[in-house]
Amino acid sequence: MLSFRRLTAFVLMALLWLGGCRLDMQVQPRLNPLAKSDFYPDQRSARSPVEGTVARGDLREDTYFYSGKIGNNPGDYMPFPVNQDVMLRGRERFNIYCAPCHSRLGDGNGTIAQRGFRRPPSFHIERLRKAPLGYFFDVMTNGFGAMPDYASQISARDRWSIVAYIRALQLSQNASSAEIPAGQKMPSAMPEQRSGLDSGATPPARAPSSKDKNTEQRK
Ligand code: HEC
Repeated sequence: MLSFRRLTAFVLMALLWLGGCRLDMQVQPRLNPLAKSDFYPDQRSARSPVEGTVARGDLREDTYFYSGKIGNNPGDYMPFPVNQDVMLRGRERFNIYCAPCHSRLGDGNGTIAQRGFRRPPSFHIERLRKAPLGYFFDVMTNGFGAMPDYASQISARDRWSIVAYIRALQLSQNASSAEIPAGQKMPSAMPEQRSGLDSGATPPARAPSSKDKNTEQRK
């Protein structure tokens, strides 16, 4: 019978022996990245990818979805249908990524702006209310002035969801009583509307605009 000691020695020998014969892909002849090689006339070991090569996962055939533009101009439609899920996702992403500067209301009075960062314009000004949807997508994708871009933090689909939510925010601050669907009440007081914005459960209720007759009620 083998003693324990001899068995251990045998196992150790076997391991050493096996460890010594790894002549597989680990030691195959190869060139390190960017190493020099005499094989090609330009002495580079690596070849450039064939023109038009697309990295896996980077094929962006739907240019509108990834740029918000048609040719050089921002388009004004959503690249996918908007439903409740899209709006909820848009609100969540907006409150995470945009509200720190633009505020949850989109009036440009976010915490960071209050503490000295350049104050963004309100989303409720005439120019931005009329701006096409693709414009907002482009600002998020490429940045704008002092504002950094968010292309690496927010996926294209989420950026579009934020666009849809911004449009709803704009409507919430500028709707007229005529735009409230029949049978629905107009929210009468600001505090209720604010709590709707903060609670996270339901999209913000539409507030009456300053053009409305109800303005006096709120003051
Ligand atoms: C760090 C603060 C900050 C954050 C976060 C931020 N913005 Fe801005 N944004 C700004 C500032 C500042 C401006 C004005 C830039 C300027 O005029 O130089 C601006 C401008 C804009 C404009 C208006 C461009 C115009 O034509 O005037 C839009 C639209 C906009 N931001 C959308 C967004 C969206 C959507 C998000 C979230 C994904 C976001 N921003 C996040 C600071 C921010």
